[in-house]
Amino acid sequence: MPDHGEIEKVAVRAARAAGRIHMKRLSHISVARKSNAIDLVTEADREAEAAAIDVLQRAFPAHAILAEESGASPTISEHRWIIDPLDGTTNFAHSYPQFCVSIAYARRGRVQSGVIFDAFKRELFVARRGGGARLNGKPIHVTRTPLLESALLVTGFPYDRRERRRFYLAFWEGFMMRTHGVRRTGSAALDLAWVACGRADAFWEFGLKPWDIAAGSLMVEEAGGRVGNIDGTELDLAGAQIIASNGRLHQQMIDAMSAIRPEAERRHAAMLAETALEGAGNHG
Ligand code: IPD
Ligand code: CA
Ligand code: CA
Repeated sequence: MPDHGEIEKVAVRAARAAGRIHMKRLSHISVARKSNAIDLVTEADREAEAAAIDVLQRAFPAHAILAEESGASPTISEHRWIIDPLDGTTNFAHSYPQFCVSIAYARRGRVQSGVIFDAFKRELFVARRGGGARLNGKPIHVTRTPLLESALLVTGFPYDRRERRRFYLAFWEGFMMRTHGVRRTGSAALDLAWVACGRADAFWEFGLKPWDIAAGSLMVEEAGGRVGNIDGTELDLAGAQIIASNGRLHQQMIDAMSAIRPEAERRHAAMLAETALEGAGNHG
């Protein structure tokens, strides 16, 4: 059974291997589309994933892997690595320096270790369940901001953002009115790492994948914060949504989201109805 220290050492090595590829590829990026015109993939995504997997598999050949670009390995194991080889691909594709690699190790479905590496800024975030969270070796902590009205939030928009724009923007507007401000940085994993180290007070997003949040959610918890589903239940990594906060703001985030939601749904339904009418008009 590998111990915590060994897991962490290998995870950091894998993250650094991916980070080297990010930096090497940054000056000559070739972009392709994935699910739609705004869901992009670069050679760096694929190469960074291969490099990280190579390090992990050499050290732990019997462990299972779930990685964004290559999917789930056929291996059946209670040990599983969850990898986003390049989180912030759209930023990367535009040389906007907010991207990272995110690697989590889970045992029996529970994340035990998380590493997020921002190679551009040379910031390495490491969390160990029960052992705290660190940035470049120094312990990090969430903020102590007590009220939403004096909070800085971060969020993101998933790849169906054009189709569901009114829904997502209703939350943006709702929080714009309730806080000091909202930032959209383009990397969910770094958003979580930044909540963990106190650069933001809370984060919410819909439409996320396990590899976006596996390492970052542990980072926030180990830095003294709280994570969960948007309705306040225990975080489901496959549940496609999250609230992460400094803890003090958590219930306020849940309450605000449930207050905003009916209006968000109403606006989305109205948009669908408008589109259907336009469609009928074009055929009439
Ligand atoms: C995306 C980023 C972005 C978030 C999207 C994610 P990718 O991941 O984390 O901030 O808003 O929902 O899909 O595609 O760059 O790995
Ligand atoms: Ca991602
Ligand atoms: Ca990615």
